[in-house]
Amino acid sequence: MKMNELKLVYFSPTGTTRKVIMEAARNIDLKSVSHDFSVYKEKKPVLKFAENDFALFGIPVYAGRVPALFAEYLQNVTGKNTPAALIATYGCREYEDALLELKELVEKNGFKVIGAAAFPTEHSIVQTIGARRPNKADMKVIAEYGINLNRRLRKEENFDNINIQVPGNSPYRKYSKSSLFPKADVSLCTECKACARSCPAGAISIKDPKTTDHKKCIGCLRCVHFCRQNARGVSSMKLRMLEGKLKKVCQNDKTADIFL
Ligand SMILES: Cc1cc2nc3c(=O)[nH]c(=O)nc-3n(C[C@H](O)[C@H](O)[C@H](O)COP(=O)(O)O)c2cc1C
Repeated sequence: MKMNELKLVYFSPTGTTRKVIMEAARNIDLKSVSHDFSVYKEKKPVLKFAENDFALFGIPVYAGRVPALFAEYLQNVTGKNTPAALIATYGCREYEDALLELKELVEKNGFKVIGAAAFPTEHSIVQTIGARRPNKADMKVIAEYGINLNRRLRKEENFDNINIQVPGNSPYRKYSKSSLFPKADVSLCTECKACARSCPAGAISIKDPKTTDHKKCIGCLRCVHFCRQNARGVSSMKLRMLEGKLKKVCQNDKTADIFL
């Protein structure tokens, strides 16, 4: 089949998933178009992909699941038996049901999954876990995944015989929202509004960027990442407690799981 475009559909509040998806995409021989859902959109865009497009979906794992906000965006993304591949990045704990959930979400919307992968990375909340991953060696593995997907796209006439199996349980584990909400230090905040403009959940008001709507906040820490004044952060005591807990269940040297 003559392929058309590579459609990159992803959510990456703190930029790691974006880095991973771009490295895989760099090795796929198609012109790419990005749909980055890390930026708040009041109206969820409607995307319809063709049979000869190739879609690459990327998510960070949240509580062993697909981030709920991204799942909402996916409802409006449809294919026509469009081939697709999946990427889940996770902070060296576990990815649990996330890859299975992502697979089932896209399949329900007309995509045919021809590859899936889970890549261990730096933990976006406790950055001492998996620190600076993906590293050089990880990037090689990610590139290899892209090369294998490209090979598959070139080789197969159709993808009917491909049956990708990924681990996970159904029903999925309960989605638990993070309770680690970032706050603004009012003495440092210059009201530049970078946090409000970057928040994926629309939880920070442009008029009053010093406050956060905790009902909307998803605890992704994108505002902390984008704040140049270091005014946004989470309670250091809560962070230390979480670090203690996570250090017992995370492994800094986890390796990628690739399903082809
Ligand atoms: C709210 C939240 C929940 C998370 N849950 C998990 C998890 O269940 N397992 C895990 O290993 N990492 C977890 N992480 C870490 C991220 O999945 C990981 O750091 C990811 O690469 C971040 O991607 P991003 O930089 O594209 O946002 C979580 C991070 C956040 C902010």
